[in-house]
This record gives sequence, C-alpha cells and structure tokens, in this order.
Amino acid sequence: MEFRHVSVLLYEMINVILTNPDGIYVDCTLGGGGHSLALSEYLSDKATIIGVDQDEDAIEAAGERLRGARCSFIPVRSNFSKIDEILTSLSIEVVDGFIFDLGVSSYQLDEGDRGFSYMHNGKLDMRMDQNQSLTAYEIINFYDKEELSRIIHTYGEERWANRIASFICEKRKESFIETTEELVEIIKAAIPASARRTGPHPAKRTFQAIRIEVNNELSILEPTIKCCVNRLRSGGRIGIITFQSLEDRIIKRTFKSLAQGCICPPNLPICACHNKRIVRSIGKAIKPSRQELDVNPRARSAVLRVVEKI
Ligand SMILES: C[S@@+](CC[C@H](N)C(=O)[O-])C[C@H]1O[C@@H](n2cnc3c(N)ncnc32)[C@H](O)[C@@H]1O
Repeated sequence: MEFRHVSVLLYEMINVILTNPDGIYVDCTLGGGGHSLALSEYLSDKATIIGVDQDEDAIEAAGERLRGARCSFIPVRSNFSKIDEILTSLSIEVVDGFIFDLGVSSYQLDEGDRGFSYMHNGKLDMRMDQNQSLTAYEIINFYDKEELSRIIHTYGEERWANRIASFICEKRKESFIETTEELVEIIKAAIPASARRTGPHPAKRTFQAIRIEVNNELSILEPTIKCCVNRLRSGGRIGIITFQSLEDRIIKRTFKSLAQGCICPPNLPICACHNKRIVRSIGKAIKPSRQELDVNPRARSAVLRVVEKI
C-alpha cells in the first residue's frame, strides 16, 4: 500500500522551527517525511536533517521522498526516547531544532493489517515498531479485568471502561479475540445504545487507550523533552504537535516547568530550589486554520506548542 499521509500544521511548524538554514534538525516522528521534506526546502546544502521513526515502513517511505533533498538526510529507525544515544552515535552534541508530530500516521491507520483502526478490519496489533513483542492481542486476551479497565479509563478517558473490560473478559472465555472488528462489536455491545447515539465512534476511546498501552506513548514524553532541551543550542527550538488532550497536558506541563525559574516561596530570603529557567515559550498554542480543516478533517484536534532554549 502506498504511504499516504497529509502533514498537519506543516508551514506553521516550519515557520517556528527554522532558525538556522545551515543547521542540524531532528524530526523525531518522521512518518511519511512530510515535515522533513518541507523543512529541507528552506535549508542549505550545509544543513542536516536526522529523521527518526520506529516504524520500518515510515523509514522506507520517507527515505524515498527525501532522496533528492539539498541538505543531508540521515534516517534512523529507533524510538525517540533514545534521542541521546542516537545523537551520540552520530557524534552530534547540539542541534538547532526538534520536530515532534505525535501519534500515528494516516498510513498506519488506513493499513488494516497494522490493526490500529476501528474502521478497518485486521488482526489486533497496533505496534508502531514491528519488532516489539507486546501487541494489542496480548493486552485484550491476557490482561486482567482491573488492568484493562484502568487502561481504558485512564488512556481513553472512557466512562464505560469497566463495562467494556467486563464484556471483553466474558467474550474471551469462549475464544480468543483476534480482530479489530470483533473488538469493535464487543465495545458496541458494552456501551448502552443511548450513550452510543451521540459523540464519536463508540470504539474511538478504547482503541486510543489500547494503542497508548501497546506503544507506551505517554510515559516517554517528559524525559524525552528534557533530553531534547539539553541537546538544543541556545536559540534552538522544539515544536510538538499533539492530537489528544492527555499528550497535550504532558507537553504543556513539561514546557511550563522548564520555562519556570525559581519556585521557592516568596518569603524565603535566598533561593533554595536552584531552579533555572531553561526555555521560553514561543507564542500561544497554534491550531489548524479553517482552510486546513476543510481539506484535512483529521487535523481537527491538532495543537502545536513551541519553546526556545534560552
Ligand atoms: C503523525 S506521524 C508523522 C507524520 C510526519 N510528520 C509527516 O508529515 O509525514 C507520526 C509518526 O511517528 C512515529 N512515532 C510515534 N511515536 C514514536 C516514537 N516514540 N519513536 C519513534 N517514532 C514514533 C510513528 O510511527 C509515525 O510514523
């Protein structure tokens, strides 16, 4: 299947991230290479883009797309939580910018075999990294009821989490739950009809929750951002696009704490916390324009936040 993905907040990202046309940039979520390709058009032949993705298909597709880029392009198949090791292995100390466009690509969603989507049938998988052993199948068939309920409630913010977990556990007494279609039917049966009539697809929240658990999407964010800030030259920037509130809250909180100086109580005569302001916020959160939403409705929940190293 062709790697199709429409990049979100494309020029908004390039506009805020580009501070040095000869610089080194890291695209931590390479995907189809849309952001990297657009950035490369503004860079000189002295510049470098390092493109990181844990998905083999993304590395291959983006490599093709960036083949003719004027700047150097280095694809790296890895998890962005290993950014320190990646830069060290390339003998790079500091960079000019980091791009994050979190979540999954349209390609991953639309490719039924990857098992990410409640709209396409496929085996329960949801791994971004095809080499990883944990899949959605293990979670759905082997996690206990309390753990399933906790995940669906916490990562999906699903009010029917407990019922969905119970229905999953009942169903798997008969046979293993193998496909996304089977899971969708179980979720539909668990959520009362009256609650299913309004709002998004009934399986949306549960699928989001299982995907976050499979790929350990949330717990790596704060340490990765802190690591990126350490690897940024003064004046360099980090731009992060999120697509759901749980991620956005982590980014907002982490940026805020890095932009905060002393947090000692005002009555303390001298600072005891030794907190230093490391970044400053660049503008307010950026959201897609009406025109972008008209052509790409998948961008509707996107938010771009940017900070600059002091
Ligand atoms: C929304 S897509 C990026 C699309 C890209 N910006 C473009 O314009 O084509 C997100 C990509 O990030 C990758 N990804 C998500 N989390 C990752 C992580 N922790 N480490 C490495 N890659 C990750 C996914 O595999 C996916 O290909």
